[in-house]
Amino acid sequence: MKNMKCYTILVLSILFTGFNSVLTAQNYPFKLPELPYGYDALEPAVDARTMEIHYSKHHAAYVNNLNVALKGTRQADYSLEELMLYAGELNDVIRNNAGGHYNHSMFWNVLSLNSPFNGQSEIGKAVNETFGSLDSLKRLLSKAGATRFGSGWAWLYVTTDKKLAVCSSPNQDNPIMDVSPERGIPVLGIDVWEHAYYLKYQNKRGDYLATILNTINWETVNRNYMEALASPLLKIIEKESWTALNIFHEVMAETFHPSEEGNLKPIRERSGELLAKARLLQSGTIPPSFDTPEIKKSIDDLVKGAIALNQMVVKKADDKTISKKLGDLHDTFHTIQGLCRH
Ligand SMILES: [Fe+2]
Repeated sequence: MKNMKCYTILVLSILFTGFNSVLTAQNYPFKLPELPYGYDALEPAVDARTMEIHYSKHHAAYVNNLNVALKGTRQADYSLEELMLYAGELNDVIRNNAGGHYNHSMFWNVLSLNSPFNGQSEIGKAVNETFGSLDSLKRLLSKAGATRFGSGWAWLYVTTDKKLAVCSSPNQDNPIMDVSPERGIPVLGIDVWEHAYYLKYQNKRGDYLATILNTINWETVNRNYMEALASPLLKIIEKESWTALNIFHEVMAETFHPSEEGNLKPIRERSGELLAKARLLQSGTIPPSFDTPEIKKSIDDLVKGAIALNQMVVKKADDKTISKKLGDLHDTFHTIQGLCRH
């Protein structure tokens, strides 16, 4: 009965929130998802033997290695979404295997022999508007995949300002990751690791790309696109990419958290730096979703509070007074930042 309930929740989740949300909401221990078709379903574009090895050996190994690497670590509490978002703080084993699990889970679902591009769909209209035509997009994706040195992925993704863009990433990275220079939510990922094509195409990555780009499940890509546009994850990525906020956050975390333990030395040494970072935040560009009167007021309050705190430190105020002021500043900061991760 319990299993039936879980299954019902899963099906409802997929129906109402889409594949990507269900995937990124996954938690440790991660599970190999079912392949949505048989190994030979994409013949002749993808031969059955390649599909079998790719799914049952490579993807399975990413999932297994990820679970082994996460066991007993702090990051075992992270969802797959958080493992992507904060990839920069992970060791290489967790980062590569978490990316491998996410990327391949998407890859299986964006392939089909029977789901042609529809210029009237939402993704169809956006592709034509952004790139001019499907052929132009294919050329960009093909170039991104062909020029990615070594192993990696080519991506069509939604940027934080809700536009379509193309990029490639090394290894098992993807645009959700904080280590990626291009940030956003992938709607279509093409695996350009040799294990994806070598048995059939040998060294001819270009031939593989030409074929696989004609083997896209555009219905799924359209669903991924619609979901990405509405996803709260896009706003999180936008905030996480706000460099001036991150810089301020770093100094705030390194001064406020010791003060909670009664150690005021960091803030006494760095109150001027904290003020400088607050001013940097005030003078910089605010990402579009956060450019509101409330956020602007919070940033102005942050600067005022940092000025007052710095003056207290200069005048060698007592620990209790400084601690109280720093606590107030931390509260103001979190009206912008949300929950602290430090
Ligand atoms: Fe792969």
